[in-house]
Amino acid sequence: MLSQIKDIAITLAPRLIEIRRHIHSYPEASGQEYQTAAFVAGVLSSCGLQVREGVGKTGVLGELQGNGQDDRILAIRADMDALPIQERTGLEFASRVPGLMHACGHDVHTTVGLGTAMVLSQIAQELPGNVRFLFQPAEEIAQGASWMVADGAMDRVTAVLGVHVFPSIPAGSIGVRYGALTAAADDLEITIVGESGHGARPHEAIDAIWIAAQVVTALQQAISRTQNPLRPVVLSIGQINGGRAPNVIADQVQLLGTVRSLHPETRASLPYWIEKIVASICNSYGARFEVNYRQGVPSVQNDYSLTQLLQSAAEEAWGSDRVQVLPEPSLGAEDFSVYLEKAPGSMFRLGVGFQDRVINYPLHHPQFEVDESAIITGVVTMAYSAYKYWHYN
Ligand code: NI
Repeated sequence: MLSQIKDIAITLAPRLIEIRRHIHSYPEASGQEYQTAAFVAGVLSSCGLQVREGVGKTGVLGELQGNGQDDRILAIRADMDALPIQERTGLEFASRVPGLMHACGHDVHTTVGLGTAMVLSQIAQELPGNVRFLFQPAEEIAQGASWMVADGAMDRVTAVLGVHVFPSIPAGSIGVRYGALTAAADDLEITIVGESGHGARPHEAIDAIWIAAQVVTALQQAISRTQNPLRPVVLSIGQINGGRAPNVIADQVQLLGTVRSLHPETRASLPYWIEKIVASICNSYGARFEVNYRQGVPSVQNDYSLTQLLQSAAEEAWGSDRVQVLPEPSLGAEDFSVYLEKAPGSMFRLGVGFQDRVINYPLHHPQFEVDESAIITGVVTMAYSAYKYWHYN
């Protein structure tokens, strides 16, 4: 079956590159993926899948019927949205939409999803169960997966596979990771309210800027003293708003930040510690405060046996020297984790780096490029993993 899958994929290669370039030329913002979704729906319909549009707002769901011997359903997820970045690659198929670019490779994910659907639709009689393709919107704003799940995209799904491109892995190779792949990403908003006054008479005021400065420092120290050092946490305050004039003591400061963590227990304890530190400093100087800790997406925790499935499928397809078992997670975030609250799953990293280039620009860079030969690597890895799902223990 592997050689049959490879043969079909290789035949499709020119069409897949054309598809990827088309999607790359016409990127759409998160939640606005109308053209991309219509295009995806057209390709899925032409492969004979049952297609539902408008799932999760602008998402598309395609169901490929297997031969009915097994009622387990495997979901395959691809995200479709682009980023608000002005492309500077100079490629002939570069973005034709000013200020928008597929700089996170979601054009490749969509193409790999479509390619996998094309391949599997040709061997559908060999698949004991159904494969459900989830083309989701709005990954970059960490909402699309929740919208899809709310619309029933994961109903009766028993496992889910995903893929993300990775420029520091060479094209032709893939990376798998057991356990945590990405971090939980939460939003933090702290408001400190003091009392305004003359800059020359601080004793008659409550200086919200000075208190905020202590809060920022204390939060970093608190992480190093209250959190298990073997369980990483990153807290970054990325925005400070406050103050009216150089000679007026500020009565209000707002601190906005992001909090990343890998372990659920660590994550659960963070709102408590943050509030405690802010309260102790504000109370010392008579300031009022509000801490708003909003949970974003959870950490992607790859399932052990589904990661084994991906690893063994990729090793059979490409040889073990082209499959990396990644030693470290990333503290980036990925809303694939939202599907994992419904069913076990695993996401692999698809190498897209050019082997002959000194610099492979990182994700989200205006000059980010992918070696398109990776598309076939992605399609074969995904399609063969899917085929093996029902035959694998
Ligand atoms: Ni991405």
